[in-house]
Amino acid sequence: MDLGIRGRKAIVCASSRGLGKACATALAEAGCAVTINGRDAARLAETAAEIRAATGASIIAVAGDLDDPAVRDALFAACAEPDILVNNNGGPPPKPFAELTREAILAGLEANLMTPLALVQRVLPGMAARGFGRIVNITSSSVRAPIAGLDVSSGARAGLTAFVAASARAYAKDNVTINSIQPGAFDTDRIRVTLARAAASREDAAALRARREAAIPAGRFGRPEEFGALCAFLASAQAGYLTGQNILIDGGAFPGAF
Ligand SMILES: NC(=O)c1ccc[n+]([C@@H]2O[C@H](COP(=O)([O-])OP(=O)(O)OC[C@H]3O[C@@H](n4cnc5c(N)ncnc54)[C@H](OP(=O)(O)O)[C@@H]3O)[C@@H](O)[C@H]2O)c1
Repeated sequence: MDLGIRGRKAIVCASSRGLGKACATALAEAGCAVTINGRDAARLAETAAEIRAATGASIIAVAGDLDDPAVRDALFAACAEPDILVNNNGGPPPKPFAELTREAILAGLEANLMTPLALVQRVLPGMAARGFGRIVNITSSSVRAPIAGLDVSSGARAGLTAFVAASARAYAKDNVTINSIQPGAFDTDRIRVTLARAAASREDAAALRARREAAIPAGRFGRPEEFGALCAFLASAQAGYLTGQNILIDGGAFPGAF
């Protein structure tokens, strides 16, 4: 399917690995020029080379911590007028609610609420003026079904979801859409690290993984490329009538009909 975005320019935040990388790859496959980002410059350069070689797309790498305003400025210096913004960032580390410090909560709010909001505010006027814009926020299934220990993540991302919901409607007439994707369990470094940490005290990581996968109706973790394909569709020309939605992709794990 031709997504109608060949030649469009995309910024994909936090995209040297995992879900962000999958989104960058899918957009590059669709013909976009993609600006990617991550803190580890060497790793980011490897990813840029890998996506370039696989797709032939123009890939610009901007290394640095997204929570630093200077790094966000560098992203816009590399891609001044993005047509597509994929908001992603690292997730807060798991911690029991009672042990959360004010600093830990503020760090999570900065990464998963304030940083993406700043980027959305920055791109909206230009997208509206140009008559095309696609914003995809990567949040979490924990917005819908909060998970104990991931309270900062759930709260910050729920805040982001509500924060942009009115703007999604306000900008719809300008062919600018704002949607979020809520991942369940996907097979990335993030989940591997979480499993290893959880397993350390109780059981073998492979056994824990098998147990977690068996609890998902699909019987497995999601593949990053499945996530990337959904992101590319939300960024497509065809998705112009789809806005203000929060799309769960979790192998059927959430048991509700709605
Ligand atoms: N995988 C899942 O099952 C799942 C489920 C629900 C929600 N999520 C959320 O979805 C997001 C992506 O998850 P993932 O599984 O793809 O994670 P991942 O495999 O750990 O990858 C995270 C990516 O973000 C980059 N990054 C992290 N912090 C950054 C920062 N401050 N500035 C710039 N880049 C940064 C990392 O590169 P560097 O380390 O080099 O910076 C890496 O490229 C996270 O917020 C995660 O909490 C994931």
